[in-house]
Amino acid sequence: MLFLALETSCDETSAAVFRDDLTILSNVVASQTDLHAHFGGVVPEIAARAHLRNILPMIEEALKQANVTLSDINCIAVHNTPGLVGALLIGVTAAKSLSLALNLPLISVNHVSSHIFACRVAAARDIFPCVGLVVSGGHTSLFHCKSALEFELIGGTRDDAAGEAFDKVAAILGLGFPGGPALEKEAALGNPQAHAFPRSFIHDDSLDFSFSGLKTAVLYALHGVGNAKGPFPGPGARRADLAASFQTAVVDVLVSKCDKALRQTGLKRLAVGGGVTANKTLRAGLEKMCAKRGYELFIPPMNLCTDNAAMACLAVEKYKLGRFADLDLDAEPNSIG
Ligand code: KG4
Ligand code: ZN
Repeated sequence: MLFLALETSCDETSAAVFRDDLTILSNVVASQTDLHAHFGGVVPEIAARAHLRNILPMIEEALKQANVTLSDINCIAVHNTPGLVGALLIGVTAAKSLSLALNLPLISVNHVSSHIFACRVAAARDIFPCVGLVVSGGHTSLFHCKSALEFELIGGTRDDAAGEAFDKVAAILGLGFPGGPALEKEAALGNPQAHAFPRSFIHDDSLDFSFSGLKTAVLYALHGVGNAKGPFPGPGARRADLAASFQTAVVDVLVSKCDKALRQTGLKRLAVGGGVTANKTLRAGLEKMCAKRGYELFIPPMNLCTDNAAMACLAVEKYKLGRFADLDLDAEPNSIG
């Protein structure tokens, strides 16, 4: 059985073809990074218009790479939540149109759950139950994942997402967009111990995150503004040291909260997804913590970590349970269920 899946939640237009045994036949992505770089962040209106231009070519390319035609497809899947509403609507509308025109069942998939399910696909074996961490430009969330479709939110950010903090701090430091990769490169040249930046909530039992104070601390350190804790170093501060100290503060918090979530739930498996997972310091930190405590760590390869349509093969699980969507399916920007 063949599925065609679509992803348009943020700034990547993606289409994928996969089989019901979770074999991915194609997974093509059109990135809009260049369109948004000038603005230093994703502009929703521009994202939606670019999805509109890219969606049909991506579908055609996904079918071509899978060596199939539309008439071979048995089911349509789409990420309809969460994300930018105008962006999501392009994928949802295209999926509903295909479902109606081809008389095929339609399945809606939660984008955040898909980020965790990407670990299941990459591992090619069961990963549930597990703790799931999704770290991207839009999310920093911890889940108790009881099964592929039963997720309980056990922690999340109270302000910025981790990737958003990387992007904003990169902008403060005059590095490019997207900021994550540029900041990681700069951090490699610096001393992570140069600045003792705040690690919010690291010592309490909460599994929540906060990165906005950290972002402000980097700004103060750069400009030499003093606060209750004393004067920050000022214009003499090396950019690489600021980047390295910021990165290590984010990683410390993410690793520590994963450790706490695993201990609090009694689970032994950690599945991680989202664009920030590209960060080598984060990967190393999670690997070290999991090795020390005897946890199993699942991180998919990069093409399945960043936004893509193949991770929507979670739709196969919904198909087995007969959980189909109707043609009144809507884009839901904020839902996480
Ligand atoms: O999952 P993703 O591709 O898109 C969504 O936000 O849904 O994640 C993109 C985020 C951006 O904030 C980007 O700066 C961050 O992931 N990112 C990184 C790295 N590569 C991408 N953050 C830190 N280090 C990286 N190497
Ligand atoms: Zn994502």
